[in-house]
Amino acid sequence: MNLIDKGRKYLWHPYTQMKDYEERDMLFIDRADGLMLYDQVGRPYFDTISSWWCILHGHNHPTIKAAVHAQLEKLEQVLLAGTTHEPAIILAEKVVSITPPILSRVFYSDNGSTACEIAVKMSLQYWQHTGNPQRSKFIGIERGYHGDTIGTMSLGGVGEFHGAFADMMFESYRIPSPYCYRCPMGQIKESCDLQCLHQLENILAEKSSEIAGIIMEPLIQAAGGMIVYPVRYLKRVAELAGQYNIHLVLDEVATGFGRTGKMFAMEYAGVEPDFLCISKGLTGGVMPLAATLTTDEIYHSFYADYAEGKTFFHGHTYTGNPIGCSAGLGSMQVFEEEKPFELLKKTIPHLHNRMERFLDLPWIGDLRRLGMISALELVKNKETKEGFSTEERVGWKIYLKGLEEGVILRPLGNIVYLWLPISTTVEEIDEIIERTWKVLSDPQNISGWSV
Ligand SMILES: Cc1ncc(COP(=O)(O)O)c(C=O)c1O
Repeated sequence: MNLIDKGRKYLWHPYTQMKDYEERDMLFIDRADGLMLYDQVGRPYFDTISSWWCILHGHNHPTIKAAVHAQLEKLEQVLLAGTTHEPAIILAEKVVSITPPILSRVFYSDNGSTACEIAVKMSLQYWQHTGNPQRSKFIGIERGYHGDTIGTMSLGGVGEFHGAFADMMFESYRIPSPYCYRCPMGQIKESCDLQCLHQLENILAEKSSEIAGIIMEPLIQAAGGMIVYPVRYLKRVAELAGQYNIHLVLDEVATGFGRTGKMFAMEYAGVEPDFLCISKGLTGGVMPLAATLTTDEIYHSFYADYAEGKTFFHGHTYTGNPIGCSAGLGSMQVFEEEKPFELLKKTIPHLHNRMERFLDLPWIGDLRRLGMISALELVKNKETKEGFSTEERVGWKIYLKGLEEGVILRPLGNIVYLWLPISTTVEEIDEIIERTWKVLSDPQNISGWSV
């Protein structure tokens, strides 16, 4: 039995309808370097989605590899309860130094979902410690995504992914998505007065005493459809959170570490959260690691004699894993040595310019851009903005055509996007756009346009 058939027999892949691979082989990746993934016969593919939005400086980066190798020689794993180690301490110090001054404490975990759940659990416990146990509800945003655990699903708003589990979720408030292209309030982006936040204003005015906090992805709702929203929306939410004394949890799991053109997306709005959730780019995408950062004030509400019952009883086996932390330190070293923000000054405007041409296609309704992220919304009709139905599987067809062109495009429904490593060069952008253009400009590849 060849390896792919063995995989077919034993593996169950995430976010994958396995039946799709009954007849066709799954793309088998043998090795990777820079922006490229190579299959078993050496055929290259551009990793235009950074292997689920985590690869930052390209695959196989020598600095990160060296850091991991060195750590492997010393200490591969130890629990972080009652013991500590150098990579965890130094990485925490570095992360604190690049985030807003108000964030002073780092709590590790191993994926983005847990980073968000930890923030929510800390928030709830903080309110109990400070005499406000009734503050037990969270506010989330429609089309927000914070992970796939029951807790994070309860705070997200992507029905396509999580609808089946609705009965198990805990109760929380939901406010409209700032989806400007399909504004639920019928407003125009350029002139809107953030009517989509009126609901938040009302919830807070009436019920703030029962609200612990609000969780959101700054500037882009990624998994919810690559919805890039105005900076002033984030500013206003932060203002309201401050006014009503609720916690602001910023989920920078996807946006952190330069992807948006700043180290963190929140910097565009100049806001400071009570909790910051990071993962993916934290290790340059090389190892699973996550962290939840919080303030001195919150940390100190847990700091007490053991008998007072204020310990934070949360932890994962691989919390602060030394190899993960060493990869994080390797990635930080790349930031210091290679100064990727200099490159981004050229590459981001270049990418944004090159994407414009897609708007000429009759089936591209919207173009959304933020740093090294760029998304196109496919529609059947530009006037009505009618989208393709799930049955039409336009994204799947584009994915398959992309593979033929040597680009991994993995659309989210009708949204085709590029989520590029921050190391991507101008020449690589041109090549990726050219190949993506070949896929998207051919009416044969777009349901309903081939006739
Ligand atoms: C904004 C955001 N938060 C949380 C998560 C969950 O991270 P993980 O898949 O590592 O659990 C993701 C994953 O894509 C994400 O984009």
